[in-house]
Amino acid sequence: MGEQSVYDDLEPKIHKKIAEAVADAVPVLDVACGDGRLTGFIASGSGCKTYGIDISVSHLTEAREKAEARGVSHLVYLAAGDARKLCFLDGSFGSLIMLYSLHEIQYLPQALEEARRVLRPNGKFIVVDPVKGGKAETLWNESYYGLEEIESMLTHAGFSKLTSDFLYDDIVFVSAKKVPI
Ligand SMILES: C[S@@+](CC[C@H](N)C(=O)[O-])C[C@H]1O[C@@H](n2cnc3c(N)ncnc32)[C@H](O)[C@@H]1O
Repeated sequence: MGEQSVYDDLEPKIHKKIAEAVADAVPVLDVACGDGRLTGFIASGSGCKTYGIDISVSHLTEAREKAEARGVSHLVYLAAGDARKLCFLDGSFGSLIMLYSLHEIQYLPQALEEARRVLRPNGKFIVVDPVKGGKAETLWNESYYGLEEIESMLTHAGFSKLTSDFLYDDIVFVSAKKVPI
């Protein structure tokens, strides 16, 4: 099996784990949702209104089509937007997810600050991303943060109660909370 297909095959497991993690913390915002595969999956499982934003209008068009095909377009709210300046009021969400997007967002500290702002007190922040030095880095020719770097950035942004585990060799799942100061 090629390396690409190993990562493709992980997707159902990753989506399920994220959906389970956010099930008790709705509404959910999927930041940098891309073509909305995860957003639609969460909406169809929970039956709750689920939000996705992405900076790419063409990805959002795909996300809309996918939500329609899944029969959840009435539950999926999609908007063009920048993770660094979210168009939502403070404390709007029970959970916020960044799946495979942490490494893509430039000026990440601003996006982490925004993530904290739009989460309600005790809201959950879920990050899933490849980490530095693994096979994904070579496969996609991208550079990723190390796990310690991710944990340190989240802590610096005011998140606490961090737990991290690996879903595959170099794919990390980090869960954190916005604990009120
Ligand atoms: C690798 S894709 C991941 C998409 C999706 N989360 C998934 O797992 O399929 C990264 C996404 O980040 C989006 N993105 C990059 N910078 C962004 C920003 N500043 N604000 C919002 N979205 C951004 C890109 O448009 C792209 O859709």
